[in-house]
Amino acid sequence: MAGAAAAVTRRAATLLLSSRFRTPASRVASLIPIVGACNRRFLCASSVSARTAEPAEAASQLGETVKDFRKRLRIDEVKGGPDQGLDWVGKDLTVRGWVRTCRVQSSVTFIEVNDGSCLSNTQCVMTSDAEGYDQIESGAVTTGASILIEGTVVPSQGAKQKIELKVTRLVVIGRSDPTTYPIQKKRATREFLRSIAHLRPRTNTFSAVTRVRNALAYATHKFFQENGFVWVSSPIITASDCEGAGEQFYVTTLIQNDTEGNNFNVSKIPTTKDGKIDWSQDFFGKPAFLTVSGQLNGETYACALSDIYTFGPTFRAENSNTSRHLAEFWMIEPELAFADLNDDMACATAYLQYVVKYVLENCKEDMEFFNTWIEKGIINRLNDVVEKSFVQLSYTDAIDLLVKSKKKFEFPVKWGLDLQSEHERYITEQVFGGSPVIIRDYPKEIKAFYMRQNDDEKTVAAMDLLVPRVGELIGGSQREERLDYLEARLEELNLNKESYWWYLDLRRFGSVPHAGFGLGFERLVQFATGIENIRDAIPFPRTPGSADF
Ligand code: 4AD
Ligand code: MG
Repeated sequence: MAGAAAAVTRRAATLLLSSRFRTPASRVASLIPIVGACNRRFLCASSVSARTAEPAEAASQLGETVKDFRKRLRIDEVKGGPDQGLDWVGKDLTVRGWVRTCRVQSSVTFIEVNDGSCLSNTQCVMTSDAEGYDQIESGAVTTGASILIEGTVVPSQGAKQKIELKVTRLVVIGRSDPTTYPIQKKRATREFLRSIAHLRPRTNTFSAVTRVRNALAYATHKFFQENGFVWVSSPIITASDCEGAGEQFYVTTLIQNDTEGNNFNVSKIPTTKDGKIDWSQDFFGKPAFLTVSGQLNGETYACALSDIYTFGPTFRAENSNTSRHLAEFWMIEPELAFADLNDDMACATAYLQYVVKYVLENCKEDMEFFNTWIEKGIINRLNDVVEKSFVQLSYTDAIDLLVKSKKKFEFPVKWGLDLQSEHERYITEQVFGGSPVIIRDYPKEIKAFYMRQNDDEKTVAAMDLLVPRVGELIGGSQREERLDYLEARLEELNLNKESYWWYLDLRRFGSVPHAGFGLGFERLVQFATGIENIRDAIPFPRTPGSADF
């Protein structure tokens, strides 16, 4: 795609996008939804008016029917309001949840119940005249047991909460043997909790991480939807290696137990005459893998729908036993058509500020918990992320800066070599005082084949967004949209051009400048909660040697 017309289109398109994302960083987070809402309002006008035409009464009845499936209140609905539950005083309430502690005193018993809807427990105060008190006497109300409690909301005498429940009835739903229940009051190590991943969501830390993870996912969809992006499902099974790094898991039916369930015999793998695996006999007729990234598929939809994003699981068979690598992780990959690297960086900045702001505003109790117990000062750190501009510098400047630092690093620092985690952390934590940093224009040799070559012919329009503690949170680039350049690069790297025929077609038919990025969702959870190890940022971590649960 060459010529003046294309250049004009590209400029016009860039301008259009610029107005969407190029806003002073401090204002981006608050402005984006409004701009997005304007876009959508125009597009959705007809369906909105159709809906408002419905009688208000019918709409509210529908709301009631929808709520029918869940006839109980969650603790968060009672204690989460501005009055912390005081508006409920005098009302009768039923609580269902798991016992955190039960303290039996001579005249009264205190039961702390948690239902996972928020960090707070409900303190239930029970005297011997309440129905079900025999369950207390028999010792059935123990840590971990599930119970139902009915009572009246009263102001609390204790300093820890505004209200408590004066119990009228208690029912034990499921017992929990206190001698074998693995979660005891004493604080357990994260390593131990990983070995009981099925029970760890019952701890404060893991329930809080899970709620914040959920809020981040919700805010992700909210951000992209409000800005006119279309969510696209990229395939989990693929025959192409997006990153070209050969870190893929095979998906095959060539290995199967026999009908009696006996272990597979290696000699039964079909082979060709020259002793290689005969993939033509496999399920897909060729080697297939779990995807390492949805990007290539995402690009095809961006080159039709303009702005899209994927949000799904990705897999890497890299043998990295670090606190930031998983074999199975979730990735968010937006792809913007008619966009360049600057638009891409602006989108990444606006997105990150938006989701962080969302969590600060909507997960206050959990964030206070992290601030006290997991990473002191995290709330201030995240407020800065929302309010301040991110640092941007070129790879070449980053190398200069590392060389001039005279610091002793484990890995060498030299133009042309990839930045290691220690270098990335030094830049964000020491040099720029904890601010996110975007490094751009990396040497082409250390980046993937699809990145757009810069005019200097040595670097590509790539960007990595680095954050303190975690290192690389986002990796992205402008894509090579020029067919001849892309073909030349595939040849240079000895990649099989034929297998990329459909990817090359995008450059043959109506090619456009486009750009995108990938964000590792678990690293975002680490960043937003302060949790040190990525294995604690996903419910069931998969890492080398470990796929339990
Ligand atoms: O930098 P990566 O490899 O980029 C891509 O896959 C591009 N195709 C993305 C795109 O442009 N659409 O991975 C993107 C991000 C990283 O920045 C990191 O946050 C995360 O994915 N990531 C991992 N997270 C956890 N465990 C791993 N093993 C990860 N590998 C990458
Ligand atoms: Mg990367």
